[in-house]
Amino acid sequence: MKVLLINGSPRPNGNTAAALQETEMVFRQEGVSTEMIHVGHQAIRGCIGCGGCVKAGRCVFDDLVNETAPKFEACDGLVVGSPVYYASANATLVAFLTRLFYSTGFDKTMKVGAAVVAARRGGLSATFDELNKFFTISGMPIASGQYWNSVHGRAPGEAVQDEEGMQSMRTLARNMTFLMRGVALAREKYGLPERESPVRTNFIR
Ligand SMILES: Cc1cc2nc3c(=O)[nH]c(=O)nc-3n(C[C@H](O)[C@H](O)[C@H](O)COP(=O)(O)O)c2cc1C
Repeated sequence: MKVLLINGSPRPNGNTAAALQETEMVFRQEGVSTEMIHVGHQAIRGCIGCGGCVKAGRCVFDDLVNETAPKFEACDGLVVGSPVYYASANATLVAFLTRLFYSTGFDKTMKVGAAVVAARRGGLSATFDELNKFFTISGMPIASGQYWNSVHGRAPGEAVQDEEGMQSMRTLARNMTFLMRGVALAREKYGLPERESPVRTNFIR
């Protein structure tokens, strides 16, 4: 069982990282292997809607997005962490996720997703909702914890003092492990749900 963790903060030792590391500790205790990828400090451009990925099965910009794609395909669960910037996810992370999800044609159904967010004070649940939408358009069930997965802190490392936040991260990781195991058993017993070929109407015809 494998979990891929994406840190959208430009600070590899910041508060988002602290939250993700708390989940990582539990995943390891549970025998789940982990890999964390830091994207927030990298120059990752946004999607230009060229459609090149539809033919090629990969993004035309050959960067960390294409490097991450096979790891995403191989994982059972994806945890995405972001600092809150103006009540939204970090823009670099959004560029990364948009291109990663759009350019990869593999079936993401029943890979378990979870979002975690870090902020000094406000915009946490808006950012949490924003990130969860990548999962819910992709057939990915969402693992949840004991609160909306968030930690508070401003300077790097402050979030470690947010005891409730840190506990939420541990609960999330335990729940996510349970869900991934449940999905694995169900997949073995029943197979993945049948998929219809998609209907796309654009609301005009
Ligand atoms: C450009 C920018 C915008 C920010 N916007 C918000 C915000 O809307 N709400 C908030 O509570 N904190 C905001 N912050 C503070 C960060 O969310 C906070 O310091 C967080 O812990 C950073 O996480 P990190 O250490 O993982 O980078 C902002 C910080 C920056 C640099």
